Amino acid sequence: MLDDIDRILVTRQQIARRVAELGQEISRDLDRLCDGDEFVMIPVLTGSIIFVADLMRQIPKKVRISPVMVSSYPGGATTSQGVAIIGELPDDLAGKHILIVDDILDSGSTIKVLREALLERGARSVRVCVLLRKDIPEAQEVSCEYVGFDIPNEFVVGYGLDYDNYYRNLPDVAVLKKEMM
Ligand code: IMP
Ligand code: MG
Repeated sequence: MLDDIDRILVTRQQIARRVAELGQEISRDLDRLCDGDEFVMIPVLTGSIIFVADLMRQIPKKVRISPVMVSSYPGGATTSQGVAIIGELPDDLAGKHILIVDDILDSGSTIKVLREALLERGARSVRVCVLLRKDIPEAQEVSCEYVGFDIPNEFVVGYGLDYDNYYRNLPDVAVLKKEMM
């Protein structure tokens, strides 16, 4: 697996430091925002599994987690093919504060579609936390409360992010060699 990598873009140490900061920031905001209301984290599967596992342990609050599955890059595609929410969203979100957790903000369609759908279900507030945001106008224009790292417009893998469902178990965020894609 390591032979397939061109270079590391964000190291596991940088990720750990930043996730701790994000956890503190989110916890502070929740103190202000929630005031006894319920707080639900909605990780977007599958890419956010590792991020959300680390992030939620940096948020010492009473929280439920309710994953959703969204498909935007089926199989080996590296450009967005349109977004679909797979399965049903929870139907008990009215009045709750929601934090969407995703691996990366690219075209922004995933976040736009989900935020809209959650507000439609009566969520009290919907905030978004992404580990990575690509340096492209579409991604920069989507409102997103918490961003781990801004990265160049390259296809990345690792720390949950995949290419054709591989490389999610890389501990760092890396760029694949061209011949691997
Ligand atoms: P968006 O809807 O275009 O913002 O895309 C978001 C989803 O596409 C993410 O949750 C990822 O699963 C996937 N994605 C976007 N860019 C990359 C990448 O560079 N590597 C791996 N997956 C990506
Ligand atoms: Mg993916």
